[in-house]
Amino acid sequence: MTVSEGKIIWQSPSNIALVKYWGKKPVQLPQNPSVSFTLNNAVTTMQWKYKLKKNPTDNIELDFTFSDAPETSEKFKTKIQKFLESVLPDFPFLNRYAISIQSSNTFPHSSGIASSASSMSALSLCLCSMENHLLKTPDHTTEKFMRRASHFARLASGSACRSMFSEMGFWGRDKNVKVSSNNYAIGFGAHIAPIFKTFRDAILIVSTAEKKVSSRAGHALLEGNIFAPARYKQARANMKILIEALATGDVKTFGRICEDEAMTLHALMMTSSPTFTLLHPNTLHIIEAVKNWRNDSTVPIYFTIDAGPNVHLLYPEAYETRVHLFIEKHLKQFCENGLVIYDKVGQGAVLVSDESIIYSVANCQIIERSDARSSQIIIVIVI
Ligand code: PMV
Repeated sequence: MTVSEGKIIWQSPSNIALVKYWGKKPVQLPQNPSVSFTLNNAVTTMQWKYKLKKNPTDNIELDFTFSDAPETSEKFKTKIQKFLESVLPDFPFLNRYAISIQSSNTFPHSSGIASSASSMSALSLCLCSMENHLLKTPDHTTEKFMRRASHFARLASGSACRSMFSEMGFWGRDKNVKVSSNNYAIGFGAHIAPIFKTFRDAILIVSTAEKKVSSRAGHALLEGNIFAPARYKQARANMKILIEALATGDVKTFGRICEDEAMTLHALMMTSSPTFTLLHPNTLHIIEAVKNWRNDSTVPIYFTIDAGPNVHLLYPEAYETRVHLFIEKHLKQFCENGLVIYDKVGQGAVLVSDESIIYSVANCQIIERSDARSSQIIIVIVI
């Protein structure tokens, strides 16, 4: 029996790295382990439909729309098409079906939230769910499924492999973390103290301008950076300290490592050849204001920054009201159009819809419909 068509919808979040992945080796393998908070509100919803081609061809037939900005659909389509072609040996069924993808994000483009992490993790989850349909192995909750999805998300965009896990994702081989791997990320939520599960992330949008250096170019710059070997050593040392702090609920040490990692990332950028300064003057104003307020108020609020000027402020839920007031009064002025996005630690990717239709032989048609949310299977036989 052949699966003739199906529809899958995954929602997958973005993430914010605490120990950063910066520097890689072929193929898309990290130079050091990294760990991130999974976000809650910043998600991509991806609908993936497939239909058996009437006349099989060798090429991958893809239709793609990015609902938030249809004018950029073509650019993303090319990226996805290339990715699907690259994984064809692993998913040989891909050229037997016409594939139609619709994607949308809950957050604005170029807002400093990694849309590649949410979209590429959603893409990989859809791809692996389609494989499940064809292999008739419906379970999308197994460790095996998540590892496979994370593995292919990594090939699409490194840090995307951490995005799908509840609360935290850990990627990269580390002798202190059992079953950690360079090939895929694993969930890390089970290893953190309750306070970290309540963490908030206020994202201060200093600038929405296009990034001065792409991630790909940024990673490549480390190859000629004389500080790179020291950085990889520092990342491993920071990870060891952070793992302990996360387990014991030591928020102060957690914060020190987060800020250390953010500043190192930008120091590497400034010492690469050519040099890049991605921090904006307003980023520095925010850093100073946060440090001063933390000293004066004793509120445990810490910053991290990715490869751009926007600042993520991390703090426990218990301080939410005070932090919001502080941001409104003292930090909004440094943000482009006063833009601040409030997010928090989230529960990872969610399968929203999962349906497959099987047409059978001769004069009898069997339709099997499975619904992931209700675990219902409806079989209709039409003679
Ligand atoms: O996944 P990439 O190739 O976009 O690299 C991500 C790099 C950082 O966001 C700066 C750090 C990280 O670990 O997410």
